[in-house]
Amino acid sequence: MPKTEADISTLPNDAILAVEALEVSFANNALTPIRAVRGVSFTIGRGETVALVGESGSGKSVTAMTVMRLTEHDGAKVTRGRILMRLKNGQVIDLVRLTEKQIEKLRGSEISIVFQDPMSSLNPVFTVGDQIAEAVIRHQGKTRSEAREIALNVLKLVRVPDAVRRLDQYPHQLSGGMRQRVMIAIALACRPSLMILDEPTTALDVTIQAQILDLVRALQNEIGMSVLFITHDMGVVAEIADRVCVMLKGEIVEAGSVHEIFATPKHPYTRALISAVPRLGSMADKDAPEKFPLVVYESASERAEV
Ligand SMILES: Nc1ncnc2c1ncn2[C@@H]1O[C@H](COP(=O)(O)OP(=O)(O)OP(=O)(O)O)[C@@H](O)[C@H]1O
Ligand SMILES: [Mg+2]
Repeated sequence: MPKTEADISTLPNDAILAVEALEVSFANNALTPIRAVRGVSFTIGRGETVALVGESGSGKSVTAMTVMRLTEHDGAKVTRGRILMRLKNGQVIDLVRLTEKQIEKLRGSEISIVFQDPMSSLNPVFTVGDQIAEAVIRHQGKTRSEAREIALNVLKLVRVPDAVRRLDQYPHQLSGGMRQRVMIAIALACRPSLMILDEPTTALDVTIQAQILDLVRALQNEIGMSVLFITHDMGVVAEIADRVCVMLKGEIVEAGSVHEIFATPKHPYTRALISAVPRLGSMADKDAPEKFPLVVYESASERAEV
C-alpha cells in the first residue's frame, strides 16, 4: 500500500520492527529544542517482548509514541533515523515516511498501544462493546453484528468474566483492572502484530498488576504477537521481557537479554536500577502503589546511588 518501501535487506528476517538511530526533538516555544530521543536503535523480533526501561523523562514514551507517529501532534519532529516495520503481508516500510493517512490505516491493525490510564482512553458515554466494535468496524470493515461477535470473543480472550453482560456496560461500571483488560481487548481486536504497552500496570495495585502481566504473557503465547513494554520497574521487566533496553536521558545506555542485564549489568545506571527493585510483596501493606525510589545517576563520576 504505502509507496515508501524500505530497504528490506536491513531488517533481519525474524524482526518485526527496527528502530534505527532515531532522533526526536520538540521545538514548541523553547529557545533550544528539547532533544527527547537521541540516536535510539533497537529491534523487536517476531513474538518477542522487549522492555524499554528508564527513569521519568528518559524518552520511553516519546520513542513509543513516535513508532505510532503520535508525537508530531505535540510538536515533535523526527530529525533523524528510520522505523522499519514488517507488515502482516510481508512488506517492509519506514513508518517515519508515511503520510498521516497511511499511518492511520496501520494503527490498530498492525500496531496498537495501551496506555497507563484506561479511564482517560475509554470514552465514558459508550459501552465497552461499542468501543471494541468501533475499532473492528473502522479497520476491518465488518458489520455491526459481526463486530459485536468479535468484541465478545476478544473480551473472553482477555479473561473478562461474564463477558456478555460486560459488553453493554459503561467504563465507570468496571474496576481499574477490568478497564485495563478492556483496553487490551481494544488493542487486540484487529490482531496487530505489535502491541505497545506504556506503563500499563503502574496505576494498578500489586495483585491486579500481576494479573495483567500474566494476561499479557499468556496472550503472547496464544497469539504470537510482539510486545514493546514500557516500564520504570525492573521487577516488571524480570517478569515479562525477553530483552531489555535501558534508557537514560534520551539514549539507550545498555541493551541485552533479561538474563544478561540482571546477571551482568554493565552500565552503572542499570546496576542502580536493579538494586532499586523492591522485594516481592514489599508494597503489600501500602494503601497505594508507590513510585519507585529515584535513582540518582551521575554520569560525570560514573557513580550511582539509590
Ligand atoms: N509534548 C511534549 N512537549 C515537549 N516536551 C515533551 C513532550 N512530551 C515529552 N517531552 C519531553 O521529552 C522527554 C522524554 O519524555 P518521555 O515522556 O518520553 O519520558 P518517559 O521516559 O516516558 O517518562 P515517564 O516514565 O515519566 O513516563 C522529557 O524531557 C519530556 O519533558
Ligand atoms: Mg512515559
